[in-house]
This record gives sequence, structure tokens and C-alpha cells, in this order.
Amino acid sequence: MNNIKSFICRYRKLTKFNNIFFSKYFNFFNIKKQNKIINFQYYFHNKLPIIFDIGFGKDNNIINLAINNIQYNFIAVEVYLPGIINCLKSIIKNNIKNLRLIYCDVFFVFKYMIPNNSIKLIQLYFPDPWPKLKHKKRRLLKINFIQIMFNKLENNGLLYIVTDCKDYYLDIISCIENFKYQNQFLIFKSNQYKNIYKNFNPLTLSTKFLDKAKREKKIIYCIEYQKISFF
Ligand SMILES: C[S@@+](CC[C@H](N)C(=O)[O-])C[C@H]1O[C@@H](n2cnc3c(N)ncnc32)[C@H](O)[C@@H]1O
Repeated sequence: MNNIKSFICRYRKLTKFNNIFFSKYFNFFNIKKQNKIINFQYYFHNKLPIIFDIGFGKDNNIINLAINNIQYNFIAVEVYLPGIINCLKSIIKNNIKNLRLIYCDVFFVFKYMIPNNSIKLIQLYFPDPWPKLKHKKRRLLKINFIQIMFNKLENNGLLYIVTDCKDYYLDIISCIENFKYQNQFLIFKSNQYKNIYKNFNPLTLSTKFLDKAKREKKIIYCIEYQKISFF
């Protein structure tokens, strides 16, 4: 297991309302942390392709994607409880049926709960960059986790990452480029993400960190790779 956490949980105590709300509703939309491989059909009652969003934070991007793309099932993983509660409220308000939440470290989720070759797309919008040299060891997207993610992708599956941290971007690219010749599948640079979602428009896309990067006129780097299996 990954001993160094890629996150620090900073939040004040939940309000009484949020506490009651969470206890009352979370179990209906939650996939519980467990030490065994899960069966997606058990949670979604269909065989639609699975899209994973890692670290959705407190924005509504994942909600909009789920509402507008009922041809997919979405699983969103987050360790930030206010983000989970915010998302839970939107799921209930919009009566969303194709989105489940996992409140847990995604490293654990991918290592123990997700079957290999089972996911159509894994997306990460603005993974915590940990820009200071002494904190870089906290970055989630290191070789071992990247390798696990590619194992989980199905044939033709996509990995899509957006960041405004050049150093993290270069690090991730170099990890993937080093790793891609060592396996039973090939990994190619790809440009398919725009075709995944109906009416996808990168210009109107909004996440909390994307909006902030745009306001600060930062360069935004997108990383996209596709897995092609041999068999
Ligand atoms: C910089 S925020 C980005 C939030 C959102 N995607 C956006 O673009 O505004 C990164 C998020 O990743 C979450 N995160 C970091 N490490 C994680 C992990 N190991 N498992 C699940 N979520 C994690 C953090 O809690 C945080 O909400």
C-alpha cells in the first residue's frame, strides 16, 4: 500500500445538517471501501461503460458530465468530505442514477477494488501538484499508480489528465514514456477524449481549479494516452 498520502484532509467539523444529511443519504450512492474486487453491475444494474473521475473536489463538473452522458456509468473518488457532501446534494437534487461515489484514497480503490481491463476512461482534473521539492513525494501520479491505472483500463481505454503545473506535467509524461514499453499492452498518445462526451466543448468546461488557472492566465497542460491490448 502507498504509505505517503497524496492529500491532507483539511476541513472544519461538519455542520449538524450536513452530518445528518450524510448519514441519511450517503449509503444510497456510495460504493463502500472494501478489500475485494467489486462488481459494477451490482451498483448500476446495467453493463454500460465505466468512467472514473479522481479528485473531483467541490465543483460540479462530474455532475454535469453524468447528467449529459447517460450512456456511461460514472464512479467518482474523493477524500475531501465537503466535496463528497456537495456532490451528494447535487446527485439527489438532479435525481442522477449513473453516478456513484467512493469516499476513500483512490490508491486503495484501484489496488484492491477495481477489476483489471474494466474502465473506459480515467480522468483527473488538476491532481494536487505538490510543487515544492520536499513535497513531490506526495504526488499521486507516480510510476506505480500510473501502472495500476493502465492495468485497470479496458482495451482502447483512455487516461486523461489536466494540470497547470509544468513540472508535474513533465514528470507524468516521462513516467508514462518510460513505462509504456514494458507491458503486455501498448500505450499511445491519443486525441480521443473530445469524442467521449456528447457535445463536449473544452472552452465551456469548468472546474474550480480550471477556472482559477484561467483567471491567473496559466498554461493548461492536457495529457491523454490510450491503451491498446495485444489480445
Ligand atoms: C486540486 S483539487 C482538484 C479538484 C477538481 N478536480 C478541480 O479541478 O477543481 C485535487 C483533489 O484531489 C483529491 N485527492 C487528492 N489525493 C487523492 C486521493 N489519493 N484519492 C482521492 N482523492 C484525492 C483532493 O482531495 C482534492 O479535492
